[in-house]
Amino acid sequence: KSSVTYIDGDAGILRYRGYPIEQLAESSSQLEVSKLLIDGELPSKEELSKWISDVKEHNSVPEEINNIIKAFPVSSHAMGALTSLEAALSTFYPNSKNITDEDENYKSICRLMSQVPILAANFYRHSQGLSFIAPDDSLDYSENFLNMMFEGDNKKMHPDLVSAMDTLLILHADHEQNCSASVMRNVGSSEPDPFSAVSAATAALYGPLHGGANEAVLQMLTEIGSVENIPAFMDKVKKKEVKLMGFGHRVYKAYDPRAKYLKEAADKVFNVTGTNPLLDIALELESIALNEDYFVARNLYPNVDFYSGLIYESMGIPKDMFTVLFTIGRTPGWLAQWKELLADKDQKIARPRQVYTGYDSRDYVNMESR
Ligand code: ACO
Repeated sequence: KSSVTYIDGDAGILRYRGYPIEQLAESSSQLEVSKLLIDGELPSKEELSKWISDVKEHNSVPEEINNIIKAFPVSSHAMGALTSLEAALSTFYPNSKNITDEDENYKSICRLMSQVPILAANFYRHSQGLSFIAPDDSLDYSENFLNMMFEGDNKKMHPDLVSAMDTLLILHADHEQNCSASVMRNVGSSEPDPFSAVSAATAALYGPLHGGANEAVLQMLTEIGSVENIPAFMDKVKKKEVKLMGFGHRVYKAYDPRAKYLKEAADKVFNVTGTNPLLDIALELESIALNEDYFVARNLYPNVDFYSGLIYESMGIPKDMFTVLFTIGRTPGWLAQWKELLADKDQKIARPRQVYTGYDSRDYVNMESR
């Protein structure tokens, strides 16, 4: 049971706490949507400004965390680093395991909201051999994140890019009981601190069948290389030798309602950055998939990951940071699912039973007789 997010996969409907994703993407901001997801209601003006200032209050990571970041090989995947760093945060906030204390939980929520973007930006800067940029409390959430990544680069801080980034985070904020949210709840049900549970959810998101698909899409488009190579690639898809990454969804069997806003965000970004040369390949793949029997019969529509990678790449974000951006967007959704889990007094530890398919009882055989 959950009251956070509603999806009707056949009708292509997505709502957070009853509000259509279209209205939130048009009119809201990442922090307002986060508050809505976590608390269940749209905040008043005063509630929103308190939430923003509470998140900002925790806008720095312990210095030792920055030293851990510097110890990662510069070539390590950003998601491997992020998973470790989120878990490491719990060691600096030992009271966070007092999960029956609502004030502690609120502090943990604020810390995760403000510090996951810092971990992401600082790891990116480390991987590029650049020094860290301190968070700037005068900036909004998405602007601050882009500033920590690209300080001083006016093109990458263009207001239309900041606004596209905020929309992307809203579109990724929650998606009911998907793989990573289920992991958040499974781990949360044994009652560890939320930093450890978010780290586990991040590991689930990392995989290419879940949040890692945005990176795999870009890899696929780069490998296809040009529109002329698409028919040969589609033959391989139909022979099931490869998957069309960024297509298909366990729940949506219609057009993903988020994809429309991703396309709009893409247009906004390309107006500033110039078009992405891989866009033509992406549009042609989409057009084939929407019209050819093989894909139509299997309800294979573009999902949220299909266009997001193209947008991120055009913004100057390297491929192995794409799923990290998804993690920043999805963190409030995981926290909302976790808070709901804690409030449900009927909730027991997650413990699937199995259908045993192994041997019946048999006797140990000595090594000499094997
Ligand atoms: N490319 C080609 N064929 C596909 C694809 C795809 N992306 N996805 C499903 N199919 C085919 C299957 O081969 C199967 O064909 P069959 O009926 O002839 O055997 C049929 O469509 C049904 O596929 P399932 O695997 O049963 O679909 P399921 O709902 O289990 O899978 C999933 C959903 C994992 C998302 C899958 O579509 C996929 O791997 N997509 C590519 C990866 C991707 O984009 N993941 C991101 C998902 S969104 C998110 O997590 C944020």
